[in-house]
Amino acid sequence: MKPVEIAKDVYDVGVNDWNIRDFHGYSTDQGTSYNAFLIVDDKTVLIDTVKKEFSDQLIDNISKIIDPKKIDYVISNHTEMDHSGGLARVMHKVGEDKPLYCSKMGAKNLARHFPQKWNYHAVETGEELSLGSRTLTFLETRMLHWPDSMFTYLKEDKILFSSDAFGQHYAGHERFDDQIGEEIMLYAKKYFANILLLYSPLILKLLDKVAELGLEIDIICPDHGIIWRKDPGKIIGAYAKWSKQEPEKKALVVYDTMWHSTETMANLIATGIAAEGVAARPIHIRSSHRSEIMTEVLDAGAVIVGSPTINNQLFPTVSDFLTYMKGLRPQNKIGAAFGSYGWSGESVKLINKELEAMKFDVIDPGIRIQYVPDQDGKDACFELGRKIGKAIKG
Ligand code: FEO
Repeated sequence: MKPVEIAKDVYDVGVNDWNIRDFHGYSTDQGTSYNAFLIVDDKTVLIDTVKKEFSDQLIDNISKIIDPKKIDYVISNHTEMDHSGGLARVMHKVGEDKPLYCSKMGAKNLARHFPQKWNYHAVETGEELSLGSRTLTFLETRMLHWPDSMFTYLKEDKILFSSDAFGQHYAGHERFDDQIGEEIMLYAKKYFANILLLYSPLILKLLDKVAELGLEIDIICPDHGIIWRKDPGKIIGAYAKWSKQEPEKKALVVYDTMWHSTETMANLIATGIAAEGVAARPIHIRSSHRSEIMTEVLDAGAVIVGSPTINNQLFPTVSDFLTYMKGLRPQNKIGAAFGSYGWSGESVKLINKELEAMKFDVIDPGIRIQYVPDQDGKDACFELGRKIGKAIKG
């Protein structure tokens, strides 16, 4: 990825990671990018770095614009190593004594990752850094999504450097929203559902805070994916909508199966839901990545979960999915459980326990069927689907 000028003397000097397919458990079928930004003014500043193994590409990009030694300040908006892993190499090139701006938690967290005694300048919300003709303002965004996270705002150009927020795991030759179109929203939605969903209440507060501060935003530069310059309001509006977690009239029937009985139940439940005019999708866990399923969970009105019983336990992939979903704390969901069993049949009870722990509205005790569903069992699954469909319609 070559440097791209975003505004006069403001550059994206980041890199594409075309081939990453697993980002700590999140499937990245289009890779990702690690964006970093260079602002050249009387003082020159680098905002964020890249993953360690891409450091030389970042330094090459910077060198196409300016000698890295001429960078006066480095800013770390976020400690996570996809953005700060390159700091060791960058600080070595830029100068180990150059001021390194970050939040207070950033200074603590970076020191836990790097032994170097860098010249940390810990900032709080509202602090400013003058670059000469332009000014940067810092805005702490604790727990969005790490304790150290913060935004940096370039006042004169109305550019928000938003760290992970508003990002997408997408590697492409496009750099701006107007170069890619609507498709990018799918990547942004997946990113939100899998990384930010549990922080929805904080996001709503942050959006209020941004409005209260009167920050005018013409361009949003996230640390992953494309830059929002045509319509930054679109992604802000989408974050507000997603954070509210208002359910749509759609249901997911998420299951795994050993000998197709639980699968038969899933398909009949989905058919019953659809008979009520509600969109219903059976999802076999081993055929879909957990992060793809979670993207669908974001706006679903119901998540119905099915598992066979194996050795008195849930099928392991169902446990994986439930654990993953529980951590992301989806809200406003209807839930129910189902599953086939041979002799002990604990799965429905175990699923219900998890759904209740997630504060789902469990609207039925669930259906357990021994071995293979007979006609009565099939009818019961269809009727459960209808009950769920009716509940979603309200
Ligand atoms: Fe893209 Fe939280 O790092």
